[in-house]
Amino acid sequence: MATIESILHETRLFVPNNTFVSQANLSSIEDYHSLCKEAEEDYLGFWGGLAREYIQWHKPFTQVLDESNHPFFKWFDDGELNVSFNCLDRNLEANSDKVAIIFEADDGNVTKVTYRDLHIQVCQFANGLRSLNIKKSDRLIIYMPMSIEVVVAMQACARIGAIHSVVFGGFSAKSLHDRIVDTAAVAVITADEQMRGGKGILLKPLVDKALDIGGAGSVRSVIIYRRTGTDIQWFNSRDIWWHELISDKPVYCEPEWVNAEHPLFILYTSGSTGKPKGIQHSSAGYLLGAMVSMKWIFDHKLADIFWCTADVGWITGHSYVAYGPLAMGATQIVFEGVPTYPDAGRFWKIIQDHKVTIFYTAPTAIRSLIKLGPELPKKYDLSSLRLLGSVGEPINPEAWIWYYKVVGQSRCPIVDTWWQTETGCHMIAPVPGVVPLKPGSCTFPLPGIMADIVDETGHEIENGKGGFLVIKRPFPSLARTIWGDPERFKNTYFPNDLGGKYYLAGDSANRDLDGYFWIMGRVDDVLNISGHRLGTMEIESALVANPLVAEAAVVGRPHEIKGEVVIAFVVLKGLCPQGDDAKRIATELRNWVSKEIGPIAKPEEIRFGNNLPKTRSGKIMRRLLRAIGRGEQITQDVSTLENPEILEQLKQSIT
Ligand code: WT7
Repeated sequence: MATIESILHETRLFVPNNTFVSQANLSSIEDYHSLCKEAEEDYLGFWGGLAREYIQWHKPFTQVLDESNHPFFKWFDDGELNVSFNCLDRNLEANSDKVAIIFEADDGNVTKVTYRDLHIQVCQFANGLRSLNIKKSDRLIIYMPMSIEVVVAMQACARIGAIHSVVFGGFSAKSLHDRIVDTAAVAVITADEQMRGGKGILLKPLVDKALDIGGAGSVRSVIIYRRTGTDIQWFNSRDIWWHELISDKPVYCEPEWVNAEHPLFILYTSGSTGKPKGIQHSSAGYLLGAMVSMKWIFDHKLADIFWCTADVGWITGHSYVAYGPLAMGATQIVFEGVPTYPDAGRFWKIIQDHKVTIFYTAPTAIRSLIKLGPELPKKYDLSSLRLLGSVGEPINPEAWIWYYKVVGQSRCPIVDTWWQTETGCHMIAPVPGVVPLKPGSCTFPLPGIMADIVDETGHEIENGKGGFLVIKRPFPSLARTIWGDPERFKNTYFPNDLGGKYYLAGDSANRDLDGYFWIMGRVDDVLNISGHRLGTMEIESALVANPLVAEAAVVGRPHEIKGEVVIAFVVLKGLCPQGDDAKRIATELRNWVSKEIGPIAKPEEIRFGNNLPKTRSGKIMRRLLRAIGRGEQITQDVSTLENPEILEQLKQSIT
């Protein structure tokens, strides 16, 4: 039976220190085990209890889970709530003067809003939307920079029961157009321009272009937040300024009470093939997932200063900027700019200036900050930090160690959180006051998440072997469907080869002999070398463990005898090597991999570049590297690529 081999052996273990443990929300293994046990023994009682405890219901639910239309599950279905009420009104009693958002603009300018201010802004904007005849279940596209206003826009949609779909501000007019058409949106909320790294990047003209393409006739209004005041073209028939829309609007807006299953938002995720999928999330189940993970995994308390660096264009920015922190009454940082402007110390400076206690970012950001300034964090006072987090990709053990020692000063646990756009919130991640950490492992599933690893026929795999990551029971925060394409939802995530029973994540993973989960990469990326099936992550981590290497990606190239051979794309910490230098370092790295994990994983070819092709969210696009490694034409869509120019360099650079 086909399993995937695990070849990476990481033995370092980091036990949470007493200072952290003594203050943690979950601080003893008994607390944790009793939650897990409760979930196992009475699954519905467990989730039903949490839903009653965490969410303020307008009308209580009577049924926890309806599985009759598998896999289109319904949770808490006859209950009624409003997500914006749960994020804002609920905080007005005890926390109205508490700062909800500390906004730091690209140029360093800081604006703070309290829960009271935010409530007023959301209410006025929600009333503004209603004045444009926007109603419950209407879809709106949000195409905005990171700002207080983008959070207001999302919350205002939730307040009136409208369904938002946020499109990342770095996406093209074409991507924007596709999402407008697919959702049949009635309005687009945008800004004139956004500021990133000292440069203005126009937004409104791209909306005009998207609407010009045709087929976007559903859009009646374009609401424009004035960010910089740059000149923009104006269409009286549809354009309206944000500030004019809210100017005369009442400061209270009655929430639209919606059913628990009412769609809160649609978020498009590209995946490796096919057209982007509009992942549709529910109201109550989604909110519950965002809240419990804030408590258990981020160990959040009211005194924290929370900072998730993700853009609201990604699920991370939905769950851990726009919804989770507010629902928990948090004070959080929203940052407009980029980590490297004015220099690569920006993140560390923000942590110092605002005394951030919980910091959550992506491995790609960590690796690039290591490359640009490994010593920089030492120049700043990072003593406020209590907990660090990582998301988006497997974090290579060497990057983990740097993050732990240099940023966290060996004091802060790191929560490596595995989850997906589709799962809505953390699925596998350490409860930081309880679980000893292993660098590169996301450790154990959250209580109530029945994650497992199976072979191609859906049978459980013994510890020590790799296979397909699945979740065996439905959970509240799981996406409900793909917008307009339920068949695709079913076929993609509940395929028949697994009996249609389990949620199939599309990742390969293994569990070590202690039961820790290790993510090995996307299933589509698995290599087959002389009959051994290997994930990409482990070979990449071995390369990154070499002191010369900043980043690495490996792909397979078909080979007559071996099946496939390993091709490695490598970015060094210094300059990109040329000629004989490149040859020498390539030989050194090949021997290194051979020594670290065995000759089986030794790259046949190494190509050096200044960077790797990445999506806008920082994920390495291995399918493009595969085409380069195989000498094929790149026929795939490269429109979501952050840095297309890098492809040429990698094509030329055979050693
Ligand atoms: C895919 C989901 C989760 C929000 C941001 C990305 C990879 C994500 C981890 C992690 C190893 C990870 C997986 C997953 N991934 N977090 N901690 N360790 N891999 O959301 O764009 O839907 O991507 O990202 O491959 O399937 P997404």
